Amino acid sequence: MKLLDGKAVSARLMEEMAREVETLSVKPCLAVVLVGDDPASRVYVNNKKKGCEKLGIRSLEYTMPKETTQAQLLELIDALNEDKNVHGILVQLPLPKHLDEKTVIRAIRPEKDVDAFHPVNVGKIMIGDFDFLPCTPAGIMELIAESGTDLTGKECVVIGRSNIVGKPMAMLLLHKNATVTICHSKTRDLKEVTRRADVLVAAVGIPNFVTADMVRPGAVVIDVGINRLDDGKLTGDVDFEAVSPIASAITPVPGGVGPMTIAMLMRNTITAAKKQNQ
Ligand code: GUN
Repeated sequence: MKLLDGKAVSARLMEEMAREVETLSVKPCLAVVLVGDDPASRVYVNNKKKGCEKLGIRSLEYTMPKETTQAQLLELIDALNEDKNVHGILVQLPLPKHLDEKTVIRAIRPEKDVDAFHPVNVGKIMIGDFDFLPCTPAGIMELIAESGTDLTGKECVVIGRSNIVGKPMAMLLLHKNATVTICHSKTRDLKEVTRRADVLVAAVGIPNFVTADMVRPGAVVIDVGINRLDDGKLTGDVDFEAVSPIASAITPVPGGVGPMTIAMLMRNTITAAKKQNQ
């Protein structure tokens, strides 16, 4: 079994990107917007800022109170859209319930949408003509490449159909000529489907959801889950102890997909800055 060490792969990519940033005439700048005080979001935003620091990317943080109105948030996004010194805009999700995520995402200029959540960018991913890749799926593709797997003709099964992970993940695998199945809570005989997978991606949000009997021996297993247990420990969607002996490669949690996501966000920010200064 090969441990797919996202921390190490991410560190390597970050070093490469730091060298690239040094050569750019304009320093890339990422604006991160956080509304409210969700502790998990706070951690994610801090990690994104730390990633920027490591690479010499400027980061601006806008922390807004949870009572912020839709109009106030849209006003900030508009100002960031207009600011030539800002190349990437990221609004941390989830937003407080009274704010409309769809409208907020659409307000970000597609050229600055480093999450690739805007419908224009989602559509571009669908047709395989994209500038930005969605960060988590893009990071997973790097880890699959690291495992040495050629995806052509392989059976890939994604559990979870979210707009952030499941759906774009399926699209990226398809672009690499895999046969892709997306499973979700209404899927019949889930175990029968997941057992077909050469590559199994779990993005469910339930601790230990993927058990050994759901995994084909020799499969590459990617765990996207970040679940915080009552004792404060982080755990993934995969029962790592039981599944790792039968997988050919597997990502740990933490230290697997998470660090890769940040590296891909940095890559998108650099791409955005370069495109806006051509
Ligand atoms: N919340 C959880 N994942 C993400 C992400 O990739 N981007 C943003 N903006 N919010 C998130």
